[in-house]
Amino acid sequence: MYSGYRGGVKGRSLAFEPDKLSMMRDQSHLEAVEAFAPATVANVACGFDVLGFALAEPGDRVVARRRQRPGLEIVAITGDERRLSLELSRNTAGVAAGALVAALGVRDGIDLMLHKGLPLSSGLGGSAASAVAAVVAVDALLGGRTSPDVLLRCAIEGERLASGSAHADNVAPALLGGFVLARTAEPPDIVRLPVPAGLACAVVHPRLEVETAAARRLLGDMVPLRSAIQQWANLGALVAGLHQGDLSLIGRALQDVVAEPKRAVLVPGFGAAKQAALAAGALGCSLSGSGPSLFALCDGTARALTIARAMQAVLQQETGVEVDTWVSPVGAAGARAHQVPNPSCAT
Ligand code: HSE
Repeated sequence: MYSGYRGGVKGRSLAFEPDKLSMMRDQSHLEAVEAFAPATVANVACGFDVLGFALAEPGDRVVARRRQRPGLEIVAITGDERRLSLELSRNTAGVAAGALVAALGVRDGIDLMLHKGLPLSSGLGGSAASAVAAVVAVDALLGGRTSPDVLLRCAIEGERLASGSAHADNVAPALLGGFVLARTAEPPDIVRLPVPAGLACAVVHPRLEVETAAARRLLGDMVPLRSAIQQWANLGALVAGLHQGDLSLIGRALQDVVAEPKRAVLVPGFGAAKQAALAAGALGCSLSGSGPSLFALCDGTARALTIARAMQAVLQQETGVEVDTWVSPVGAAGARAHQVPNPSCAT
């Protein structure tokens, strides 16, 4: 089991140093490795593009397997209803893995197999999970010595393909786990935040799709000063609430006056589902990433389950589509990899 990505990134960034990094590679010779990267909740209401945390599930998986021929290739994708491209440059996993082999300066022959456990365009960080699983799998296959900073930079390249912007609020928690503040994405300056014991998350996913790039265009370029003041007051209060373990402050801070008002129209019944969550005892509720999923923070997983069911019932009625639910501790573990014992079965 490889889990070297949880040591934290303190914000100091390494430049790519291909020669040095390739010399650092472990000599152990694995044939195939599978990596898992979890779903993430980005923005967390008041932290547009800068806050995110990992969920325990669902997640994406990537198998990286050695082959004779040099070069990198995506040879199979499952769980995507044949909608994702096998072309490296058009797939977030391919872009991220390509950035990593370029950064390491390696020419090893590697086949990638991607399994989408995350629904497409769900607001749960699917493109980030694929990118992170890809870099973690390739790195583990090559010896598992790449710094989290370099893995993060490469995974962010995958995210850029998906959303047109290099934000780290999904990629960083998918890689590192926990609850993080991405002070900057380029270079990555990632700050880990503490999570009060028992803080749980209910996630509901109406089976609709929201393209992140389109949801970003809805926002425009300008934020009125009055809204900016409210937003950074809430962001500061949320960070303080996490540090102090003050659930009441966390609840008061979970308000988004920048993105949510413009994006709520993307999810029929958003307002009613949010009201249902709050009435059932949620500390706060908002869109997960750019939607259509919603998240609610809750005191304990038992309450989170009740809240998830309340939101599910409302959204099922309002959207007329099926609604998936997940309950997770806030800030679950990040990406991890394990050796695939029989590489010929790794498909
Ligand atoms: N912060 C991003 C957004 C998350 O809300 O657009 C989705 O990539």
